[in-house]
Amino acid sequence: MTPEFILVTPQARPRVALIQLNRPKELNALNLQLMQEVAAALRQLDQDPEVRAIVLAGSERAFAAGADIKQMAGRTAIDMLLIDQFTIWDSIRRTTKPLIAAVSGFALGGGCELAMTCDMIVASETAQFGQPEIRIGTMPGAGGTQRLTRAIGKARAMEMVLTGQSISAAEAAQHGLVNRVVPVGQFLEEAFRLAGSVAQMSPVAARLAKESVNRAFETHLDEGLHFERKNFYLTFASDDQKEGMAAFVEKRPADFKGR
Ligand code: HXC
Repeated sequence: MTPEFILVTPQARPRVALIQLNRPKELNALNLQLMQEVAAALRQLDQDPEVRAIVLAGSERAFAAGADIKQMAGRTAIDMLLIDQFTIWDSIRRTTKPLIAAVSGFALGGGCELAMTCDMIVASETAQFGQPEIRIGTMPGAGGTQRLTRAIGKARAMEMVLTGQSISAAEAAQHGLVNRVVPVGQFLEEAFRLAGSVAQMSPVAARLAKESVNRAFETHLDEGLHFERKNFYLTFASDDQKEGMAAFVEKRPADFKGR
């Protein structure tokens, strides 16, 4: 079925797919259908051998202004439990291919959380990152208290979560939340550029390396090192490792096939 709230371009650039949130009037507020569409598109692109990296973008004005407040407003705790929206978020988190958020304008609440669920963030100068849920009597629920704290540290995360105040793109870059900040006209192109350079690598190695970096957030050092080592060994089972090292020795560019 054609999605209603997103646009999907499997080959927006060679080997790079684009998912664009497309609910402009509502500043890309994340209703359940939109989130289901994002998760379904990611699952499909994750299976597509022609795709090696994925860019997730909003518009220039808004990446996403948060979960859809109008949809949530009247719900009870049990409604929220039964809707179980976080299964969708968990499925997004399990995307195996490198996922890059291209953020311009508002990235608030669930919007900030969605950007942080991605592996890297390219921001435009106008990007604003915030967890304003406290101002509407709730709190982050899709990883905000955990990922923001790991990214920018306790003091700054606590201030953002408890006051609802946003930080600018420049502050986000200074504190390590985003990879880079570019002029507003260039944020999407810069995200494609970054995705394109990842897409040139061995997708097998990229998948195992992504898994290993993510493990650093989930476990203690000894187990993380053990996990990394196993994945490192596993890359030696791939044709891509043989090709990559042969290409180095033969002084030619590597041609990675993804096996
Ligand atoms: C539903 C939203 C929305 C949201 C904006 N809109 N954000 N609708 N949910 N999160 C709608 C507005 O109601 C309005 O529609 C239209 O988008 C334009 O917004 P305006 O407020 O008129 O624009 P502006 O004055 O420029 O202000 C932009 C803004 C503000 C600062 C981003 O809209 C705002 O504060 N939005 C809410 C941000 C927020 O609290 N996010 C966290 C949500 S809770 P109409 O039709 O009324 O004109 C959350 C929890 C996540 O994310 C938990 C896990 C999933």
